[in-house]
Amino acid sequence: MTATRFPPITNEPIENPPEAVRLQKVLARLGFGSRRVCDDMIADGRIRVDGEIAELGRRIDPSTAKVMVDDVPMGVAPDLVYYLLNKPTGVITSMSDPQGRPTVAELVPSTPQVHNVGRLDEQTSGLLILTNDGDLTHRLTHPSHGVEKEYVAHLDRDLSPLELRRLREGVELEDGPTAPAKVTRTDDKVVRIVIHEGRNRQVRRMFASLGANVERLVRTRVGPIADRRLAPGAWRMLDQGEVRELEIAHHEGGEGAA
Ligand code: URA
Repeated sequence: MTATRFPPITNEPIENPPEAVRLQKVLARLGFGSRRVCDDMIADGRIRVDGEIAELGRRIDPSTAKVMVDDVPMGVAPDLVYYLLNKPTGVITSMSDPQGRPTVAELVPSTPQVHNVGRLDEQTSGLLILTNDGDLTHRLTHPSHGVEKEYVAHLDRDLSPLELRRLREGVELEDGPTAPAKVTRTDDKVVRIVIHEGRNRQVRRMFASLGANVERLVRTRVGPIADRRLAPGAWRMLDQGEVRELEIAHHEGGEGAA
């Protein structure tokens, strides 16, 4: 999201902060619909600001207000940024590396400072979200409701239907059994796998438990976010609709958690 400066508002009721903006406008910007639709949401009591149900005409300071829609927290601060990076192989998922290896930090703007949401290993490429929204990061990476992550794995051999079923049902790893996964053979030696846990090198270890090696691993979706056109090493801003979908994906556990 681009930083927006709101002009000071004069003659406002005393409880409104000096840089206040109408709540319906903030909601409309987040993609909930027209301002009128957003007013209806407020009138229906669906919006909380700092824990309290908001009233029509409410103004907020987006840089500090905690807004919830149907009890889902929404990042509304104008200085929150959300990047979608297509991480190439050979780059480590870290914001700095004492050993001087290339990091994802070098591929996105350095200000404002962001952090990676989850991680991909050095030899895995694909979609990675980076943000300075700590609340969203926490919710997206929380073990009990992590969002779905989709990977395409190129293997050193084909898998049998029985092996695919074992992956779907859960395999035993040294840190415990894996949760049920969605697994589809898309081609000879190519498998699409969707998991919602985020254990270290989980996909590679799941295949290794069957004695198959992953030769190439690409993450193609994080929750509702996919982008086939983003080139390796390129990034783009998530738009407000995508950020909102991420918030909801996490909350509903739909595209989010299996
Ligand atoms: N599973 C892996 O094995 N590697 C990743 O980078 C992500 C999931």
